[in-house]
Amino acid sequence: MHHLTMETIRRIVLAWPLIVGLALLAYDVLMYAESLRAGTHITQTTEQTVDVLPQTLQRPLEDALLTALSPSHLHFTAIGPTLLPNAAHLLDTLLDDAFLNASATHWQVNASVLHSSLQLLRSGRDAILQHRHELQQQHHRRRRLHLWNHRQQQQQQSLSQPSSSSSPAAASLSDWLAAVQQTLAGLPAGSSSHPQLRRGLVALLLQARVAAGGSWSQSDEDAAAHILLQLYELHRRGATSKSAVEYYHFSKAAGTSVCLTSAESGCTTFSTSEQFTCLLPPFGDGPRWISRRAHEERCRRALPDSPDCPNQIYSKLAKWGSRYPAKGALVGCGARATALAKSGFNFYASEYTLRPRGGKAGAPPGLCAQFLNLAVLRSPMSRVSSHLRYVIRVTYDKLGNRTAPYFGGMRLADWRALLPAALDNYYVRGLLGEGVFYTGVGGLTEWEHLPAARAVLGGMDVLLLLEDPVLLSRLGHKWGLGWNATFLEAEGRRDTASLEEVNRIVNTVLPTGDEADSLAAGNALDLQLYDFAVLLSRLDAVVWAAAEAAGEPTKGKRRRRCGYVPAAPLPAGTASREQSGGGGSKGTAGRRHKRSSSRGGSGAVAAAAAAAGGR
Ligand SMILES: *[C@@H]1O[C@H](CO)[C@@H](O)[C@H](O)[C@H]1NC(C)=O
Ligand SMILES: *[C@@H]1O[C@H](CO)[C@@H](O)[C@H](O)[C@H]1NC(C)=O
Ligand SMILES: *[C@@H]1O[C@H](CO)[C@@H](O)[C@H](O)[C@H]1NC(C)=O
Ligand SMILES: *[C@@H]1O[C@H](CO)[C@@H](O)[C@H](O)[C@H]1NC(C)=O
Repeated sequence: MHHLTMETIRRIVLAWPLIVGLALLAYDVLMYAESLRAGTHITQTTEQTVDVLPQTLQRPLEDALLTALSPSHLHFTAIGPTLLPNAAHLLDTLLDDAFLNASATHWQVNASVLHSSLQLLRSGRDAILQHRHELQQQHHRRRRLHLWNHRQQQQQQSLSQPSSSSSPAAASLSDWLAAVQQTLAGLPAGSSSHPQLRRGLVALLLQARVAAGGSWSQSDEDAAAHILLQLYELHRRGATSKSAVEYYHFSKAAGTSVCLTSAESGCTTFSTSEQFTCLLPPFGDGPRWISRRAHEERCRRALPDSPDCPNQIYSKLAKWGSRYPAKGALVGCGARATALAKSGFNFYASEYTLRPRGGKAGAPPGLCAQFLNLAVLRSPMSRVSSHLRYVIRVTYDKLGNRTAPYFGGMRLADWRALLPAALDNYYVRGLLGEGVFYTGVGGLTEWEHLPAARAVLGGMDVLLLLEDPVLLSRLGHKWGLGWNATFLEAEGRRDTASLEEVNRIVNTVLPTGDEADSLAAGNALDLQLYDFAVLLSRLDAVVWAAAEAAGEPTKGKRRRRCGYVPAAPLPAGTASREQSGGGGSKGTAGRRHKRSSSRGGSGAVAAAAAAAGGR
């Protein structure tokens, strides 16, 4: 008995810290519940005096953040959103001076607008940093004071005065929000959709919201919501002022579906059939996949008894090394815009690499301000895998039962020789122009090419991802492009009957084990770029979600509009005829799409395209 009592006391003594801890926790929970109750109460009394206030607090920014960024980049707690570690790192990249400086050359605005936009982003960064610092100071001070008493004071303070006026930092955040609204209201609407400013500001709103935690006020929320709608309106008006959509088609990333969906949404192009896939042949933007030299070498080594092997290849796919003509009249943006207008087209795909600014050989690559620039990305290794598969399939169409021996014993080095760009950071190559596109395998660097590629991507007006959940994809199509349909619903490229045989070959010839690892490691830049693209696209989705919630009009569903982009003028001589596109294709397996909205009439582009044939 005596022994038992001693043991009990000993246990109680040992458990004392735990009991205190539990008591504190219980106190915290009670106080939190109390604060919620009190908060609700205050809201209700305010509502009773001001009729126009809605029943519940309006949280449009928070709702849009939740829709677009949770759970990929954010999670929500009782005091608001918290960033996941990778998201915090990507946001810092997006807002650091290195990125802002690199991206400056791709803003489609004049010097004074660029200056004030960058100013806004930098001052936002400072305001948030200061805010974060202030909150930290407050936090430390609070912890130094006596816990119980201080809690009581805090509760009373936060209930008796709006938190936005309780610290100078919060005031500077509100000042910044006011400055943003004012600057956006003064920006030229039309001509640019301001993609960099949109993403930078949403990134800052997100960081501000996260930093403020429980001190974020309703007036901050309202200001942020207003900013989101201003950004949407700038985008819409910018997009409406473009003459066509230029779609950056990264091979094996939904290209066929995007092309078909464009037609469904009213866009007009040369042809949506498989051998053109919205390319305009005279523009010369077809893919540069297979090295003919490596193919011929392969034929010699693997199929020495097949003298016809070198010719058994889709020549349109074996264009590695073929550059834009030095004096290409149809490389420059202006020349292209004119050619498109003459043919009545307002959509086209480009599947090669960014062209030199002004169409001048040797100039650094640049986006066209005349067009709404659209890029669709897919997780890089899925893209690579799909690309390899496709190459095996088209080879099978030509070589039949010689396909297995042709690919037999392929090592990673052989694959890289055969498909130099496609297997080595194809996105980065596709964004940085011919000089970079033709850099040797393994020659791209994280310090030079990754920031440059990020900067081009940041200049794309609309960014969509193959992997997006349906909800986000729909938002991107509807509010980013003004399209009704999404590429998710489109029928992709059909496989041939030989699928089973092709699959069997694929399973035996694709890189595996160490070579698969090495292939993935070799695409590290694309993997990082893709993560960045996901962030950019989700920041856009915040704006799209806010527009949807506000029920903003998408405006205008006139025939032959390409979403926001107006109908191209009818080409001379085709006013009343709908034709089925350009000339016949020679020796390709594709078939024409009857419901294509292509109108390869008598325009210059159509005529040239007809002469150039399919891909
Ligand atoms: C960015 O550009 C500004 C002004 O041109 C320059 O002062 C600054 O050093 C640059 N920062 C970086 C990181 O390149
Ligand atoms: C830049 O564009 C704005 C709005 O279109 C215009 O008001 C301003 O004068 C332009 N500034 C320069 C330097 O061209
Ligand atoms: C757009 O959506 C509406 C209603 O959902 C539908 O009736 C219409 O056919 C669609 N238009 C196109 C071009 O798909
Ligand atoms: C491949 O098919 C051809 C006929 O199409 C046949 O003559 C030949 O024997 C086949 N070769 C192999 C290795 O199966």
